[in-house]
Amino acid sequence: MSAIEPPVERIWWKQPLDRVEGTWIVIAFVWCIVMFVMMPYWHIYGKQNLSNEAYRTTAEAYLKKATESAEKTTVRTETDLKIPVVHPAPGGDAYLVARLWQWWPMLELEEGKTYRIHLASMDFLHGFSLQPENINIQVHPGYEHIVTVTPTRAGTYSIICNEYCGINHHTMASKLYVVK
Ligand code: CUA
Repeated sequence: MSAIEPPVERIWWKQPLDRVEGTWIVIAFVWCIVMFVMMPYWHIYGKQNLSNEAYRTTAEAYLKKATESAEKTTVRTETDLKIPVVHPAPGGDAYLVARLWQWWPMLELEEGKTYRIHLASMDFLHGFSLQPENINIQVHPGYEHIVTVTPTRAGTYSIICNEYCGINHHTMASKLYVVK
């Protein structure tokens, strides 16, 4: 028998199944089922996968919502660009705009409180990456992504873009504050 030569019996699928072959098919099938069940199981009990939703939107509609929210909840501004730092109501919505090459505004959240963080891109694909936590979400243009999070540790976190989005991709960084 050879892997290069054509099979001696052309109609190979009518050959009886070898014991070893059958065993591997059963093992592979059982493993597929385990993996399939683990996906929803780990989402619910593993507390690692984020609960996220996505809705269709447009850059204009989203920017309007994010701007209105920022106008109501800004507590201060930072950097020479006067980026607003917003402190949304605990239990409420926080809006983040991704665009070339900026995250806008900065968020200040309270430890132990749950927020719905909205993310949308105004132009191309960006990636929301929260450091040092291992949270990564692709931010697609045309969609409003909503992630429900409860920060557990106060501190200053970094947001970086982890999808290449052009010449200044490496400057697309921001901060997220979690206060007690
Ligand atoms: Cu935005 Cu890379």
